[in-house]
Amino acid sequence: MVNLKLPLKLPPWLRWLTVGLVIFGLIQSFSTPVLSQEPIQIRVMMHASEAQQWQPLKADFEEQNPDIRLDIVAGPNDTNLVEDLYASAFLLGDSPYDLIYADIAWIPKFAAAGWLRPLDDYLEPGDLDGFLSGDIEGGRYRDMLYRMPFRSDAGMLYYRTDLLTEAGYDPPQTFTDLLEISQSLQDQGLTDWGFVWQGRQYEGLAAMFVEILAGHGGYWVDPETLDVGLDEPEAIAAVEFLRETIAQGISPPGVTTYAEEETRRLFQNGRTAFLRNWPYVFPLASDSPIAGKFAIQPMVHAPGQESGACQGGWGMAISATSRHPRETWRVIQYLTSTEAQRNYILANGYVPSRIALFSDPEVLAKYPHYADLLSVVKNSTLRPPVAQYAQVSDILQRFLSAALTERLTPERAMAQAAAETRRLLVQ
Ligand code: GLC
Repeated sequence: MVNLKLPLKLPPWLRWLTVGLVIFGLIQSFSTPVLSQEPIQIRVMMHASEAQQWQPLKADFEEQNPDIRLDIVAGPNDTNLVEDLYASAFLLGDSPYDLIYADIAWIPKFAAAGWLRPLDDYLEPGDLDGFLSGDIEGGRYRDMLYRMPFRSDAGMLYYRTDLLTEAGYDPPQTFTDLLEISQSLQDQGLTDWGFVWQGRQYEGLAAMFVEILAGHGGYWVDPETLDVGLDEPEAIAAVEFLRETIAQGISPPGVTTYAEEETRRLFQNGRTAFLRNWPYVFPLASDSPIAGKFAIQPMVHAPGQESGACQGGWGMAISATSRHPRETWRVIQYLTSTEAQRNYILANGYVPSRIALFSDPEVLAKYPHYADLLSVVKNSTLRPPVAQYAQVSDILQRFLSAALTERLTPERAMAQAAAETRRLLVQ
């Protein structure tokens, strides 16, 4: 038998040292995991171009919050491709994303599917003060808030001031003005193309069409009654206008394959007089061959109608499957703070969702056009905020694309789009 007894006759100093070492060891063994605990990872996905622009925000946030690491995954650039990736992650079950960087157009679908955590539990009184109301409304579904606004967006018309001045034109007000001025500038050899817009079959086509439709006095889906207006004469006229731009050679035939970036490049390279796009183009074009030679205005409209602007924008939501909703909320609080938003806007020229930033001296010094932008953004229209929005949009994109590429007449295309949309909404 082994004798396990320790020698009992230790000198008192050694006994105290032993006790001290044991206590120290115990404290160490309890405290070490806490001290060396890894930061909590909060994962978000977004289109690649913005993933890059988020890097300074990430660095600043992590410096202020050493217990959280923001893991930014770069996705594709089209909004609906990013949406599809998020959707498939949720459909597979345990989504790896905590934070959802969400287009305003995704919220009804994501909220109805139960993929997002309502934010109402986290909100303190006053948290929503100072944001543009359209941006807040776009984040609600059935009276619950699911998305905090980060950057707002609204579609508008860019035009070349130098070309208009040279040819003696005022900026166009109506669709007819736009066609006539374009044609004349092209005939005079001042520009290759008159007007470029997003004609590819994707979400950007639907967003652009909202503006042409509103400018003709038409509507897509009435959110209250769920009436569908796509086969009304105003909607047919809107499709005919877009077809006319191609038929008259005002828009290049390739316009039916363009998303935002293709159209921006044509404008920046001086190849078109007019462009429909979002405000992010402004700072980029200001650093291009056409710097100082362009301006923005609301989209043109039919006589007696008003300009339409599609309400766009991006914000943050918490994934229903996140194991760290509190930490994700802390990221959201940081990103939607005035300070973070100001830095992001100043660096990248996006549109604020906080009203005060439109008249912020630092922002105005760099982007004087923000003074005019506020009214365009305030008057913008949401895409139909229905749970089936992704399908509603997909129907419009398919039939609009068929009409624009002359596979169907505008009447047939819009009759079929309206019928499919009605069938979907009465289900
Ligand atoms: C912009 C808008 C977004 C819209 C998208 C369409 O990113 O902010 O709301 O859905 O363009 O391409």
